[in-house]
Amino acid sequence: MTDRMAGEDQPFTSAELGEIEAEARAAIEAASSLPALDAAERDALGKRSRFSGLYRELGRISPDGRKSAGQVLHELRRRLEDMADSRRAELEAVERAERMAADHLDLSEVLPGELAGHLHLVTEVREQLEDVFVGMGYEIAEGPEVETDWYNFQALNIPLDHPARSSVDTFFLELAGSEDARYLLRTHTSPVQIHLLERGELPIYAVVPGRVYRRDTPDATHLPVFHQLEGLVIDHGITFGDLAGTIDTFVHAIFGEQVSTRLRPAYFPFTEPSAEFEMTCQICGGSGCRTCSMTGWIELGGCGMVHPAVLEATGVDPEEWTGFAFGFGVDRLAIMRHGISDMRAFVENDVRFLRQFA
Ligand code: DAH
Repeated sequence: MTDRMAGEDQPFTSAELGEIEAEARAAIEAASSLPALDAAERDALGKRSRFSGLYRELGRISPDGRKSAGQVLHELRRRLEDMADSRRAELEAVERAERMAADHLDLSEVLPGELAGHLHLVTEVREQLEDVFVGMGYEIAEGPEVETDWYNFQALNIPLDHPARSSVDTFFLELAGSEDARYLLRTHTSPVQIHLLERGELPIYAVVPGRVYRRDTPDATHLPVFHQLEGLVIDHGITFGDLAGTIDTFVHAIFGEQVSTRLRPAYFPFTEPSAEFEMTCQICGGSGCRTCSMTGWIELGGCGMVHPAVLEATGVDPEEWTGFAFGFGVDRLAIMRHGISDMRAFVENDVRFLRQFA
C-alpha cells in the first residue's frame, strides 16, 4: 500500500507535499530581506520549482484525479503565498522603521564634545555689564526702539535746528504726525533717560541696554544697527567725581585692574560739563596701533552731568536734584574685550567665528 492520495491517479505522495511545504516555510521564514523573500518564494513556487513539477504531472492523470489533486496543490500554493505575504509585511515594516530612524534628525541631542551653542558675544558682554551695575545697586531699564523726535532729540536739549542732529544720520519713519511728533528709530539709548525721569520716581540709579539705529555704512568699527548701554543717576549731591569713579569701576570689572581709564572734555547737548571716556587700547596694550590711531587709548563713550534743561523738560527741579549720565557702544566694548579687529563679524553669523568664543 502506497500513500498516494486518492489512489493511483495521484502524481505525488502526502509525504512529498509535506516535505515541499516544510522546506518552503523554512525558507520564507529565514528570509531576512525583501529580495531574499522574493528568491525564497520563487524557489518554492516558481516555474522551475518541485511544486510546479507536480502541477505539470497533473496532465498525465485522469480528469477525476486531476481535479482533487489540483485542489490539494492549489491549497498548498495558497498557504505558501499567504505565508510569504505576511512575511513580506513584516519585512516592509522593519525596512520602513529603519528608513525613518536613518532620516530622523534629533535637534535636541547634544553629543559629548560637540558644540552646544552659547550666547552671542554681544549678549554675553551686555549681561556682564548688567551684573556689574546690579551689583552697584542699579536697576535695569528698557525703552522703545521707535521714538518720537521729542524723546530722541528735543527733550535731550537738541532742538530742531541744533547742529548736533547732523552728526547722526537718522532713520525717520513715515508715520502720520507733526514735526514735533515725528517718529524715528532711536539713534541712541539716551531717550530712555527721559522716560525714566518722566516716571517721577526719584532717586534714579538705572542702566539701559538696547539696540540703536544709524544710517551708517558698515565698516570695521560701525554697524547701522548696534547696541548701547546708557546709565542715569539722579540723586541729591551727585558730583562729577561719582561719575568718574563709576566709569572706572565698571571698566575694571569688565577688563581687569591693569587697564586705565581717562576722561577728556567733550560736548553733548544733554550734559554739562560733558566728557568722553577712554580706556587703554586692548589691541596694543597702550603702546599705539592702527586701531587706536597710535594714541594708545580707545574711546568707549560719552558722559557728563545731566543738563538742567533735561531735568526741566521732565518736571524735575534742577535746584534739588543733580546727576550724571553716560552712554557707550556695547559692540565696541565687546570687540575690545575679545581683541576682535572687525565688528561686522558679529552679524555675519559665521559659525567658525562664533564658536571660538564658546
Ligand atoms: N548718546 C550719546 C551717543 O550716542 C552718548 C552719550 C553721551 C550718552 C553723553 C550719555 C551722555 O548719557 O551723558 O553718542
